[in-house]
Amino acid sequence: MCGIVGYIGSRQAQDVLISGLARLEYRGYDSAGVAVADGGQVVVKKKAGKLANLSGELEQQPLPGTLGIGHTRWATHGLPNDTNAHPHATEDGRLVIIHNGIIENYLSLKAGLIERGHTFQSETDSEVLAHLIEEAYAGDLEAAVRAALAQVRGAYGIVVTHVDHREIVAARTVSPLVMGVGEGEMFLASDVPALLPYTRDMVFLHDGDMVVLHDDGYRITDLQGNPQERPIDRIDWDAEAAEKGGYDSYMLKEIYEQPAALTNTLMGRLHDDTGEVNLDISLDPTAFKRISVIACGTAYYAGLVGEYLIEQLARIPVEVDVASEYRYRNPLVSEHTLAIVVSQSGETIDTLEALREAKKGGAKTLGIINAKGSSMTRELDDTLYIHAGPEIGVASTKAYTSMVGAFVLLALWLGRARGTLTDAQAQELLRATRELPRLVEEALNPARVAEIKRVAEKYAQARDYLFLGRGVNAPTAFEGALKLKEISYIHAEAYAAGEMKHGPIALIDANLPVVVVATESHLLEKTISNVQEVRARSGKVIALLSDGDTENAAHADDVLYVPRAHEMVSPVVNAVALQLLAYFTATYLGKDVDKPRNLAKSVTVE
Ligand code: F6R
Repeated sequence: MCGIVGYIGSRQAQDVLISGLARLEYRGYDSAGVAVADGGQVVVKKKAGKLANLSGELEQQPLPGTLGIGHTRWATHGLPNDTNAHPHATEDGRLVIIHNGIIENYLSLKAGLIERGHTFQSETDSEVLAHLIEEAYAGDLEAAVRAALAQVRGAYGIVVTHVDHREIVAARTVSPLVMGVGEGEMFLASDVPALLPYTRDMVFLHDGDMVVLHDDGYRITDLQGNPQERPIDRIDWDAEAAEKGGYDSYMLKEIYEQPAALTNTLMGRLHDDTGEVNLDISLDPTAFKRISVIACGTAYYAGLVGEYLIEQLARIPVEVDVASEYRYRNPLVSEHTLAIVVSQSGETIDTLEALREAKKGGAKTLGIINAKGSSMTRELDDTLYIHAGPEIGVASTKAYTSMVGAFVLLALWLGRARGTLTDAQAQELLRATRELPRLVEEALNPARVAEIKRVAEKYAQARDYLFLGRGVNAPTAFEGALKLKEISYIHAEAYAAGEMKHGPIALIDANLPVVVVATESHLLEKTISNVQEVRARSGKVIALLSDGDTENAAHADDVLYVPRAHEMVSPVVNAVALQLLAYFTATYLGKDVDKPRNLAKSVTVE
């Protein structure tokens, strides 16, 4: 996640850029930079660290000019220093670019450019874009950007300008870009709030759109140059609604951000051509004999999915602990242990102390973490960032699915390195993993969401709920119950479905809704037997079924269909339906989903 802003008009560009970047700093604050064009030159100023470092300098020495681009960085390739900060300029300083996203094939592109005489200043993937555009430039900036983008693979929101043209050229694929339309001025940004002080007329650019901005207008095409029509939306959000992207709550916004969050988790890490996974970590995948996964709450349930995936795909023994237990049970740890801590915030004190306990015993340590630079990341040997972006809603949603996505990557990486996965198996799983953002998008389609809302409201008066699931989806049931209880305050229990007959079955009566995760899997028949046990005792069955499974629908009172996914990655897709079930139950009951009672986002007390 990085934030980008562009401006062309009659105001001093620097002011628009700095105020826009201040509203985008949530997207990253490793460095900030601007480029402002003024009569035949473009001046770049960039600084590592928070925006205040840059804006302080610019206050002393403002950059005059009415056209400019600005960037706030969340580092992916290259250290967060001044050189790797954006904008990136060509050697002659005539062309500058800013970029949000990841160029997956940048290494091979960079090698080619160096061979053809280009010199690189930074370690970033983004700088290849500046050189590719320079190489293709023959007087037409738009054509040069188009030619450059034809060579890249990955995600980008890119904004470009050149001293010879009073215009800004921008394009997007995956990474967001919105255009603000003013009177005699035009704006660009990663997100609406950056532009609200200047205009409320916005054009949301689509994937594969390219746009050329002038002082008094714009032209949108696709990447091949065919004209595209996009509506101008009038945004009437107040400041708070703007931060929530127009959604009623951060939680709902974050539920809908899951396709993008997963794209970021997976981006640049899957190589379909070779069946390899690249995690950019220094850990030796063969240097340990067992794995301890340690986490709290939702992150713990992601760890339980991880246990299943790693044991299945990499055949390494895994145990999963809640951190508050692990740290006090004198755990058996040695230099043959890999301790994996899982945390959205990277600050949860129980997990942090458990990490220290594991280190004391000599374990190697790896974190699956969202928050950059958080306390845990400073103590870990290696961090696999999930790149889900800031999560503000107290109930974790997008961090959970991205954590599970990261475990899929890790299990594949370990399986490949330890020779437990054949090429064909790896490629099949890679394909299934790559599908995840699309499947989650599909899980969020309006018809499905409306059905989940209907079912949530039907059972919203229930006093208790039971959630059941098996195998890799047993943790989906646990997480579904946690989501429901923490935001709706309805008591919810969750069990591995086969365990029900050993006790919880006594709870079942006609007033108990039982959510059963019964999507396509090698255990589906067994799960359906458990469904029948519930029905035989008059329990109300809400079944999560894979699209097209009409046969098993007959055993349920209500069915929530979810997109078909490979069993190993299905927990990601299935979690979305249960998040929405909890969300609609809580909102129907009038609860504040973003700030559930008694809970805090980051638990830094024992
Ligand atoms: C539940 C929830 C909590 C957290 C837990 C760990 O929705 O958000 O259970 O998952 O407090 O927090 P992190 O992941 O920040 O360590």
